[in-house]
Amino acid sequence: MLEKWLKESNYTVILSGAGMSTESGLPDFRSANNGLWNAKDPGRIASTDALNDNVKEFIDFYRHRVIGLKECSPHKGYYILADWEKRGILKSIITQNVDGFHRLAGSENLSELHGNLQTLHCQECKEEFPSEGYLHGHIQCYCGGMLRPSVVLFGEMLPEQPLDFAAEESEKAELFIVLGSSLTVTPANQFPLIAKQNGAKLVIINMEPTEFDFYADEVIHDRKIGEVLEELDHAFQQRENEKS
Ligand code: APR
Repeated sequence: MLEKWLKESNYTVILSGAGMSTESGLPDFRSANNGLWNAKDPGRIASTDALNDNVKEFIDFYRHRVIGLKECSPHKGYYILADWEKRGILKSIITQNVDGFHRLAGSENLSELHGNLQTLHCQECKEEFPSEGYLHGHIQCYCGGMLRPSVVLFGEMLPEQPLDFAAEESEKAELFIVLGSSLTVTPANQFPLIAKQNGAKLVIINMEPTEFDFYADEVIHDRKIGEVLEELDHAFQQRENEKS
């Protein structure tokens, strides 16, 4: 049904999570086998408390994630989504991911709810620096303030503009597709409901079951997102060839 709905929809919106980047080589957070939070307590290392009371572990955790960003790159599924945006098949992407891969692959109509790990900023003067700085021990601004990743930490408010954009897009959606999220974290997990309440069809593509499967019009488990997107894109190409 997803292929049919994708073709019929005049306003398709995607919510992506960490499951969108595992095929690029980045770990997600809650996958049963190797999710980051299986071995680490996010409250201890990815929170505002950690930034103030546990700086060494905090910086070490994010330094490793920055290394991951530099060693990995967007897989084909990212480029398919960017192409669908250009062809009008997809209107926008709301992402929980901080890897910047949607933007790197060419997606423009994008809400980065949890910020972006490609940059650091000074806690005092807000000056921005490339996140590679963490790889070279650059943790202090020339003003003396401490540099931190430009991501939303546990305990912090989400940035207003991406939140507003995500809410608007969810309300306008005719088709809302979740790609690779356990839908565990608010407010990101509310957007599928907002879309549904505004009449959208909801599709969840996620390896493992989520708490929101009950609300979905279609659920695709045990399939890799990259493969599903390639199949859908191939079906689209075939239709276009038949028309021409
Ligand atoms: N194809 C399909 N699904 C996948 C794939 C894949 N290749 N790889 C992983 N998944 C699924 C996993 O089964 C898991 O349920 O993606 C889901 C990812 O869920 P999480 O790890 O919880 O990631 P996410 O939902 O994005 O987490 C939300 O939590 O820790 C915070 O800020 C962090 O943005 C993150 C937020």
